[in-house]
Amino acid sequence: MTPVGRNRIALIALGLALLVIAAVAPIRSPGTTPHARPGLDRMMAFHDTLWCGSLPRSSEAWTTLHDLGVRTLISVDGAMPDVEAATSHGLRYIHLPMSYGVITTEQQRRLVAAAHDALAQGPVYVHCHHGHHRCAAAAAVMTVGLGHLTPDAAMKQMTICRTSPSYTGLWNTVADMTPLPMTEVEQVSRDFPQAVAPRGMVASMTEAQDALDQFKAQKPADWQPAQAARLAEIFRHLQVDAAIESYPPAFANALDDTWKQADALEQELARANRTPGRATTILERLETSCTACHKAHRR
Ligand code: HEC
Repeated sequence: MTPVGRNRIALIALGLALLVIAAVAPIRSPGTTPHARPGLDRMMAFHDTLWCGSLPRSSEAWTTLHDLGVRTLISVDGAMPDVEAATSHGLRYIHLPMSYGVITTEQQRRLVAAAHDALAQGPVYVHCHHGHHRCAAAAAVMTVGLGHLTPDAAMKQMTICRTSPSYTGLWNTVADMTPLPMTEVEQVSRDFPQAVAPRGMVASMTEAQDALDQFKAQKPADWQPAQAARLAEIFRHLQVDAAIESYPPAFANALDDTWKQADALEQELARANRTPGRATTILERLETSCTACHKAHRR
């Protein structure tokens, strides 16, 4: 074939590819309204090829995502994603479970790095369970972090997604977000899991009780920061556990409250001039937060 013939074929192929993209990707950036799609309750564009929406759970949903050209799904839900269904539709999963509270700097960097790499391969669908709160905040962090949207513009998208104003941690994270320098994005370790198994409520509570009993078996002067760090870890992890999905929003706040007390205790115990009195007061507050949640939410 002559070079001209090859070029012509290449041009025709490109034209066809563009036609296909135009036909299946009608949601442009940034979207002004969430769209329902076959199998998906809602879907909202934060950028040309970055959408946020609800959990795909029918073969119709997988077909919709496939037809839209999506290559990667990023779940920020606590529940384990259906990797098998995704794989059978040619889609790849990344699972970065997220809480309803503040998104830590480390989590922000992982979200941005995952989106950066995934977008290089094709359109990305970010989802949580309902498609209102966490996925919108995650998509906002990604698009602001990559420099595609300002925090104000991203928060406007969150409003359209109906992210609840009561999740102040999510909103504050986005309001304070700045674009990440590419050097920082490159430093993030690329060990993104496909699926993270939740530990569940009972296992976490049993461990929390064990950690608390340890404190009580010792004199406050002997308490170690690592013991408090263990408690803090349990409550930080529970915040991203699927087990909490069936509880009301106040439950997430109660978890956050207990986490804060454990964190404060760790900081107190790590101080050079720590006092047993202050540590005891914080531990009492922590115990009160355990009982308060049990009273309100244990069924
Ligand atoms: C945000 C709410 C919340 C907080 C905070 C909380 N718990 Fe719980 N806890 C629960 C719920 C809900 C259950 C019932 C779980 C179930 O049976 O599915 C539970 C159950 C338990 C159980 C019984 C586990 C079993 O074997 O069935 C223990 C023990 C426990 N919690 C200890 C603690 C301790 C200690 C703390 C504080 C350090 C704490 N919890 C803080 C909500 C909470």
